[in-house]
Amino acid sequence: MELSGARVMVAGATGVLGGAITAEVAGRGALVALAGRDPSRLAHAARSYPGAPTARFDAYDPASCARAVHDTAAALQGLDAVVIAFGTVAFGAAQEVGDEVAEHLMAVNHLAPAAFFRAALGILRPGSVVAAVTGVVAERPQPRMADYSASKAALRAWLDAVRREARSAGVGVLEIRPGHLDTGFAQRPVAGTAPPLPGGGDPRQLAAAVADALAADAELLRTSPDGTPVVERRSR
Ligand SMILES: NC(=O)c1ccc[n+]([C@@H]2O[C@H](COP(=O)([O-])OP(=O)(O)OC[C@H]3O[C@@H](n4cnc5c(N)ncnc54)[C@H](OP(=O)(O)O)[C@@H]3O)[C@@H](O)[C@H]2O)c1
Repeated sequence: MELSGARVMVAGATGVLGGAITAEVAGRGALVALAGRDPSRLAHAARSYPGAPTARFDAYDPASCARAVHDTAAALQGLDAVVIAFGTVAFGAAQEVGDEVAEHLMAVNHLAPAAFFRAALGILRPGSVVAAVTGVVAERPQPRMADYSASKAALRAWLDAVRREARSAGVGVLEIRPGHLDTGFAQRPVAGTAPPLPGGGDPRQLAAAVADALAADAELLRTSPDGTPVVERRSR
């Protein structure tokens, strides 16, 4: 897709990665819409984009996810890309992580992105893209992160299946599957404590690769073992 002039909604624009993706695509000429949970953080993030529409949602409320798509599409007279950059994590051995936390991770990391995309797929035109951040745990589940890994693997599977459904409508599906990033995400878990982690990748470098992947109609953005983002036109 041509990013200049494209109408791009970023859900999770209040996060570090979501903020970097918003800045990157706006810098390449896209018209951005910002969706987020926290009203004051959302207002703060939107200050850099005068006139950009904003929408509030909570990942726990699928109707609010669909509303965010419809409201921002109405404000921009359509959308060309919907990028999901929100998510949450928990740490701990499987028997320590309670059922509620496991359900929370599945709701935020899998079901809410699916709710956004269900709404988006109803309105997007051929040539549009939906994109979501999974993570390397979707292909390499980690101990003490079983429920987080499972929620991201579920989203990855969902994207793989929906990609094949959406092809006939001319809508692309991009999976963004990064390794560890320096965003502080691991220090904001809903439960547990992060293990000691090595330095992560630069979220701005990944955001630039996300914009490249959108522009190239790519299906997968992953991180190579040396931490460099790799854009793959086809996911398999
Ligand atoms: N950082 C990493 O190492 C890494 C690696 C691989 C994948 N990822 C993925 O990258 C994504 C972005 O994370 P980040 O690194 O940018 O961390 P971040 O700065 O903590 O961003 C997390 C975002 O998720 C939002 N969020 C959390 N729970 C929510 C809920 N219930 N409803 C709505 N929004 C909610 C937060 O909103 P508020 O502003 O309201 O809190 C924030 O915008 C996540 O999906 C994460 O799994 C991160």
